[in-house]
Amino acid sequence: MADLSIPEGGFWPAPEIPQPNIYPMEWRVETGKLAAIYEKSKRTVWNPADLPWDGLDPGDFTVEQRLGIMYWFSVLANFDASGPAVFARATIQAFEKHEEDPVRKCFFSITRDEMNHEECCQRTIARLWPGGPLDWVPATDLERAAHNNIGWLYHNGGRYWTGYSGAVGKYSLPVLFTSFMMGEMAASTLFRGMATGTEHPVFSEMFHRIGRDESRHLQICMTILENEWPGLTDDTRSLITRQLRAGFVFLSMILWEPPGGFWELPPYFLHNHRVLMDHARDAGLGVLSYEEQAENWRVAMARIRAIVERWGIEFPAIPELDIEGVEVDFLDPEDIIPVF
Ligand SMILES: [Fe+2]
Ligand SMILES: [Fe+2]
Repeated sequence: MADLSIPEGGFWPAPEIPQPNIYPMEWRVETGKLAAIYEKSKRTVWNPADLPWDGLDPGDFTVEQRLGIMYWFSVLANFDASGPAVFARATIQAFEKHEEDPVRKCFFSITRDEMNHEECCQRTIARLWPGGPLDWVPATDLERAAHNNIGWLYHNGGRYWTGYSGAVGKYSLPVLFTSFMMGEMAASTLFRGMATGTEHPVFSEMFHRIGRDESRHLQICMTILENEWPGLTDDTRSLITRQLRAGFVFLSMILWEPPGGFWELPPYFLHNHRVLMDHARDAGLGVLSYEEQAENWRVAMARIRAIVERWGIEFPAIPELDIEGVEVDFLDPEDIIPVF
């Protein structure tokens, strides 16, 4: 063994690394519960390719029904398929801010799960409407309406992404995670409802599995927030109130129907959206009725309200669902951060 080289006067200290930076490496564990959830997420991972796809036969549906299902999954993809990129960015940020190791790992596991949810949108659309969401040529008025609505939807998805990309570094963990928590609450509510509503074995298994993932995501968000909420300032509290209203406005597109305040849509959008959703409903996808959706959303909102009010965060007014609270006026894309 060669002798060590030790300089006279001792080793030179390495330069301090300017932060934020992912270095120096360390694996601090402060929240055992998060580490346990991460372990569970690895054991319960599933493969969308293994769903019984042979049982999803385009011939079992009318053209309108196939179009309706494709439309619903295109709307879902506006949310679920932004998940991988949104959480990948949050993961990088958690590394740069040296969050404890289980936080980074849990973000990564959400990224992994969301990639599966995106794959479900992709595979369903590929089977029932090749070229969908947008790379196909519509031939009827109904098809033109669907194609055009999807284009407008993704215009808004694009505005959301620009806002999120600009805002993610500015928000502290509790602000970011209250919004994520709302998204996960919405997602678990949606998929629980769809899983009971659908008549189709492929969609039933898909929605059950996604719903289970979303419940785990909700658990992750809640665990992180229990650590973060005690240190809230009043400024952060009122920012969170705004974010909750923003979450409602954004997520209503898939949970219910889009209210004003963020969405840039042509005047005919909502009417055609309803027609297309009716075709998806008619196909046995499990899309709940307008009233059932509103009731589910109201219940989810009441849960979120009970959680945040424990920490002195006021709930925004949601007049669309007869929920009273603090008036929140204008919302711009940077206010919108929830994902599924
Ligand atoms: Fe999720
Ligand atoms: Fe998801």
